[in-house]
Amino acid sequence: LSDGPLRGKRVLVTSGPTHEPIDPVRYIANRSSGAQGTAVAKALVELGAEVVFVTGPADVPPPVGVQVVAVETAQQMKHAVEANLPVDAAVFAAAVADWRVSTASMSKIKKQNGALPVLEFAENPDILAAVSQMTVGRPPLVVGFAAETDDVIAHATAKRARKGCDWIVANDVSPETGIMGGAENAVTIIFEGGADEWPRMTKDAVAQKLAERIASAILDKD
Ligand code: C5P
Repeated sequence: LSDGPLRGKRVLVTSGPTHEPIDPVRYIANRSSGAQGTAVAKALVELGAEVVFVTGPADVPPPVGVQVVAVETAQQMKHAVEANLPVDAAVFAAAVADWRVSTASMSKIKKQNGALPVLEFAENPDILAAVSQMTVGRPPLVVGFAAETDDVIAHATAKRARKGCDWIVANDVSPETGIMGGAENAVTIIFEGGADEWPRMTKDAVAQKLAERIASAILDKD
């Protein structure tokens, strides 16, 4: 393993959902199994990379051979990412909650004779955008994901420009595709000046192809 093309290269991968507490027993979260991010981390390890795996509470266990940094919230994920730079490449596969509850309670919120609790939200930091737009120490290759339900390529292309990352891995997560929580994925890689549409394949196969592409990109820059 250690003699793969990514030997000596350090790659950070975010994965899983984040959980944003409402009170000590409740949270809001995104629907994410962590399957695709885990597969990407595994494929990078298999190519010899040193992988820092920053993961929210996922359904699947982290792959063998990565350095696991377990987090709960988006803010913790951002700190963990920043604390583990610099890296040769960063892949943002986490489904980060866009908002956190700004009025999270330190004690369990009780039912009060039909009076309903009101939650206030604050916007979470966009970790991918923050890292993509770093002026000092930006990873040479920053890869984001875009899960969309309509106009996938148009939305993902706009997202790539807005965030400032190098590649976006775009996929259609409409319920009828069965991709969310399933074993397969059909993605299009969007980069500066083009897009490559890959056929539907397992998430492991997507991960392997992506890891190989990352290896070529990093080695080209050496
Ligand atoms: O804007 P949207 O959530 O669709 O963007 C998805 C991409 O941005 C993914 O790569 C995801 O990991 C990343 N992201 C992030 N921090 C956020 C929101 C999304 O890193 N707060």
